[in-house]
Amino acid sequence: MFSLKFCSRLHSLPINRKPLFAFSDTTLKSLSNANVLSRLSSASSCTATAMSFQQTQNFSASSNSTSLSIFEDSPLPGLESDLVGYVFGKKKATEVAHLVWNHVVRKGDAVVDATCGNGYDTLAMLKLVADESGTGRVYGLDVQGEALVNTYSLLDETVNQAEKQLVKLFNICHSKIEEVVPKDTFVRLVAFNLGYLPGGDKTVITKSETTLLALEAAERILIQGGLISMVVYVGHPGGREEFETVEAFACRLPVDQWICCKFQMLNRPLAPVLVFLFKR
Ligand SMILES: C[S@@+](CC[C@H](N)C(=O)[O-])C[C@H]1O[C@@H](n2cnc3c(N)ncnc32)[C@H](O)[C@@H]1O
Repeated sequence: MFSLKFCSRLHSLPINRKPLFAFSDTTLKSLSNANVLSRLSSASSCTATAMSFQQTQNFSASSNSTSLSIFEDSPLPGLESDLVGYVFGKKKATEVAHLVWNHVVRKGDAVVDATCGNGYDTLAMLKLVADESGTGRVYGLDVQGEALVNTYSLLDETVNQAEKQLVKLFNICHSKIEEVVPKDTFVRLVAFNLGYLPGGDKTVITKSETTLLALEAAERILIQGGLISMVVYVGHPGGREEFETVEAFACRLPVDQWICCKFQMLNRPLAPVLVFLFKR
């Protein structure tokens, strides 16, 4: 079984700090707010029935309706098969998150990886924002120096110098996002992949209190049409509590400004939960 739940509140501004690894230092471009998510502007809530993703007021389908008309009206066209892939175990939660980012992020955008880890998410973000203009930025944060070294190494192996220069890495808690992302930056995506560093110290783990502070900061810096994306793990001590904190935060966001949903496997209670918070 699979559930998609939508919940839904508001936002202010940041300061500055030097990156641990700075590959370049050029001026950030101001970004337009309009994007595919504006198509969600009239939606008040959503549900999933056999993987359809649909605005509630238009949704009159029964549990077996997977008709084309539903897919045609999808606010995130093309994602349906990816979501089916996740539900049937063919796609990992992180892969689905990357696919959703792909529908939201544009070349030249500024994005934040709030938990760099081994750098796979940072790399995926970089590929989405990098172009010849050199205006895209990826701000990456992690409390572990080891994670940033891993991220740096991955980038070193996989992208060219010009692309690397778009990434700024900070050895800092994500509750301090506003100290590293320059004031007045238009942030399109803030992504969290919670938990511990795979292959690293399992005692260094994201915590409910700082995750909540980071979410509040993300809420303030995100532009309209932006996304807070989370992969939340519930199988380790403290994971379930952290998930509940994330859910409570999402449920408080006002429905006229946010579209909030989760993808959760009901009969795989330890499977990671995907949480997407779209800012209208
Ligand atoms: C699941 S891993 C991230 C995986 C990573 N995104 C990737 O693509 O490999 C979680 C990371 O969060 C980091 N972390 C834990 N607490 C943190 C905090 N308060 N602020 C920032 N990062 C934190 C850990 O050090 C760990 O590297």
